[in-house]
Amino acid sequence: MSKVFIKTYGCQMNVYDSDRMIETLAHHGYEPTTQLEDADMVILNTCHIREKAAEKVYSELGRLRLIKEGRRARGKHTTIAVAGCVAQAEGEEMVRRAPSIDVVVGPQAYHLIGTLAETAAREGKAAINTDFPIEDKFASLSKNPTLKSRAAPSAFLTIQEGCNKFCTFCVVPYTRGAEFSRSVETVEAEARRLVQSGAREITLLGQNVNAYHGEGPNGRSWSLGELLFQLARIDGLDRLRYTTSHPRDVDNSLIAAHRDLEKLMPYLHLPIQSGSNKMLAAMNRRHSAEEYLETIDRFRNVRPDLALSGDFIVGFPGETEEDFVATLDLVKTANYAQAYSFKYSARPGTPAAELNIQVDEESKNERLQRLQALLNAQQEEFNKSMVARKLPVLLDRPGRHVGQLAGRSPYQQSVHVETSPEHLGEIVEVVISSAGGKSLAGTLASIEYEDNLSEKAPANTNILPEGPSH
Ligand code: 5AD
Ligand code: SF4
Repeated sequence: MSKVFIKTYGCQMNVYDSDRMIETLAHHGYEPTTQLEDADMVILNTCHIREKAAEKVYSELGRLRLIKEGRRARGKHTTIAVAGCVAQAEGEEMVRRAPSIDVVVGPQAYHLIGTLAETAAREGKAAINTDFPIEDKFASLSKNPTLKSRAAPSAFLTIQEGCNKFCTFCVVPYTRGAEFSRSVETVEAEARRLVQSGAREITLLGQNVNAYHGEGPNGRSWSLGELLFQLARIDGLDRLRYTTSHPRDVDNSLIAAHRDLEKLMPYLHLPIQSGSNKMLAAMNRRHSAEEYLETIDRFRNVRPDLALSGDFIVGFPGETEEDFVATLDLVKTANYAQAYSFKYSARPGTPAAELNIQVDEESKNERLQRLQALLNAQQEEFNKSMVARKLPVLLDRPGRHVGQLAGRSPYQQSVHVETSPEHLGEIVEVVISSAGGKSLAGTLASIEYEDNLSEKAPANTNILPEGPSH
């Protein structure tokens, strides 16, 4: 069999897509390898969300060219394929900049990657497909039964793709295309397959996952909340998560799911990007900071211990110190358990990139530092509130040291546990002994799973007193 090596950049959806490409390539005689030098095909599954992500791809392509030439000297052919959002955005331009590329394939056409590789080899020139084909990628993929005999304990499942929101800074509506939701039936079938092959937790993925409106068994379109109720009925599936949500698409069924479903983890990634209403309008978010805070309250009313996560952009064109302080104020009010923050990066083709009021790099750096100091302090405070508590942890990976496994708390924190490898894939009760900024450590209490979260004192629901000033 030929060997394929795949390197994944960016979001969890790319991780999901990479797995699907591996499955599809099995039908073309490829098996995965972790050794780059052995690979007959190397795929870079790329991300275009910020400038740095795209630059990394070109520097990696430089390295791959040398490997390809080295292998050619030994009489071996190497197919270099670029998939994902950089492939979609740059298309043919990529081949001009890096002629060693054989295949360029966008996120809506990657089920064709095997055929494209064959075409490139036959015709001796790069094969490119960045269309949004009419045929259903997911239907084509689901004809390929999953390759892996065992799924990871924590698995991803894409239920929705694309975005119709057109935030003015974002490339996603251009690279991933318009919103598309898979049907309830196909999602449920895939979830059952994952559980049968060992998954205990499933994270539902979508660029706008709560804009989900897949066709239900009764012909009507179902919301994410309704889908969660349906999936929670699957025996052997212990945990459900979803990401990423948009504040404008939160409906009552999603709130009800957090209220009623024990399996739905108390964690919410709900990006706002900025706390300034002026910036939110310029970003085309179409909601205010006040509306966002009201939405958070709706979740916290039914799930007081909810761990809140978000995304922020500093230095969006026209952002003043006053606008930035509004973001700090919002963070203090909302109180995050964890969050991601980025410097604004102008993306070609997006409306914000055209604005001639770009913020200078120095201000962006300074604001990012202040914001991250506040977010890190909140995260540490949230983590420290776990010490001495008993948490159910899904052990999903080896730990940093021998004799350790690592997993996730219900609140999505990494937890390191001293325990033997046979517990991998189990949900264990862990007494938290210490907490740092990024993770927790603890000792095994018992190996039985019992959801006693609701008995615990709510954590992280209080508004912090004035945060550290920066
Ligand atoms: N510049 C900086 N950050 C961005 N994001 C999306 N586009 C940009 C950009 N042009 C961030 C947003 C989004 C996350 C996935 O990436 O915060 O929620
Ligand atoms: Fe991008 Fe906005 Fe769509 Fe999120 S909602 S994917 S930030 S355009």
